[in-house]
Amino acid sequence: MKEKTLILSGDDVNSIVEAYGLNKLMDTLIKRTTESIEAYDIDKTEIPIRSGFNYDINDPGLVEWMPVHKKGDEVVIKVVGYHPRNPQKFDLPTILSTISSYDTTTGHLKGLVDGVLLTALRTGAASAVASRLLAKEDSSVLGLIGCGAQAVTQLHALSRVFDIKKVLLFDVDHTALKSFPDRIAMLDLDTEIILSNTENILKTCDIVCTETSIDVGTGPLFRNLETNDHLHINAIGSDFPGKVELPLDFLKQSLVCPDFLEQAKIEGECQQLQDSEIGPDFSELVKHNKKYEFGKNQRTVFDSTGWALEDQIVMDLFLDLAQEFKIGREIAIENISNDAKNPYNFMLKTVSV
Ligand SMILES: NC(=O)c1ccc[n+]([C@@H]2O[C@H](COP(=O)([O-])OP(=O)(O)OC[C@H]3O[C@@H](n4cnc5c(N)ncnc54)[C@H](O)[C@@H]3O)[C@@H](O)[C@H]2O)c1
Repeated sequence: MKEKTLILSGDDVNSIVEAYGLNKLMDTLIKRTTESIEAYDIDKTEIPIRSGFNYDINDPGLVEWMPVHKKGDEVVIKVVGYHPRNPQKFDLPTILSTISSYDTTTGHLKGLVDGVLLTALRTGAASAVASRLLAKEDSSVLGLIGCGAQAVTQLHALSRVFDIKKVLLFDVDHTALKSFPDRIAMLDLDTEIILSNTENILKTCDIVCTETSIDVGTGPLFRNLETNDHLHINAIGSDFPGKVELPLDFLKQSLVCPDFLEQAKIEGECQQLQDSEIGPDFSELVKHNKKYEFGKNQRTVFDSTGWALEDQIVMDLFLDLAQEFKIGREIAIENISNDAKNPYNFMLKTVSV
């Protein structure tokens, strides 16, 4: 039997988003992320810390693999490249990625899906889930430090769970800063967009997302700045050893919630903290959210390094929608011989009698 693999290219993914609706998609993803984390059970789902290769030949970059094993069902592996010089040098996104799903009964590749848009969507959705539990309910002023690709979905996701009235922006790259309002035009938000600076953002915003491509060893993004005393920060850009966005003193004043504790201690803002200074992880926060209600009235940080569970959630959603809208292409990518014990079987000549 020739098993087929469902391929969802970037264009297919775009068609799914258009068919389903962008806001509905983000709302569904936020809901599924919340529900999947509530149901997350380490005895049923295995998630090792990601691994990869990083290099600095000509330009810095890395390729990593992020696996998740849903026991008795599937293994999902995202392969993700981070090449921060991509936009300027090659007109490509900083993050390039694909996500694959393997059937654990046979090892068959069930699906192969674009991971560029899916990563941006799931990272936004994760911030929305965390912010809903850690930020003040009436948060209306959002700051974005770093106005690249992830900033678009951070804003989109947060605008689905808060009534955002004002967005303050800062980026070291003036072109990225100035082009941001045009890049989010399709969100059709009734929001005032203000080009600002880090000092003002920290003082006035209820929620801030930091999603910069800051280089390893050059952080944090700010020091000794006054911050709003109920400020919630989604720290997205700290996702590699030595790459941090927030200063230690701010972290020490805050309830810090890592998405994936063991990984965040190596790659996230948590690499700056002792274990005793780290708050509940994402799954504890979601499952026992009442216990952490107090966080809404103080400084809080969602230390988002990127959790493979989020990749599995977003991939499953796109595979479901691909079926619903009959989008995508099924191909027999694996070489399945008619004789399972003979990989050369296709070369056998018919023996004439
Ligand atoms: N946590 C996660 O799950 C997750 C997922 C995807 C990406 N990321 C991280 O998010 C970050 C942003 O990714 P992206 O895809 O938006 O990249 P991008 O290249 O599209 O945007 C990054 C922006 O940050 C700006 N920037 C760099 N240094 C800055 C500084 N010191 N102050 C202000 N702005 C600065 C750049 O000018 C650029 O516009 C990266 O560090 C990436 O590794 C994290």
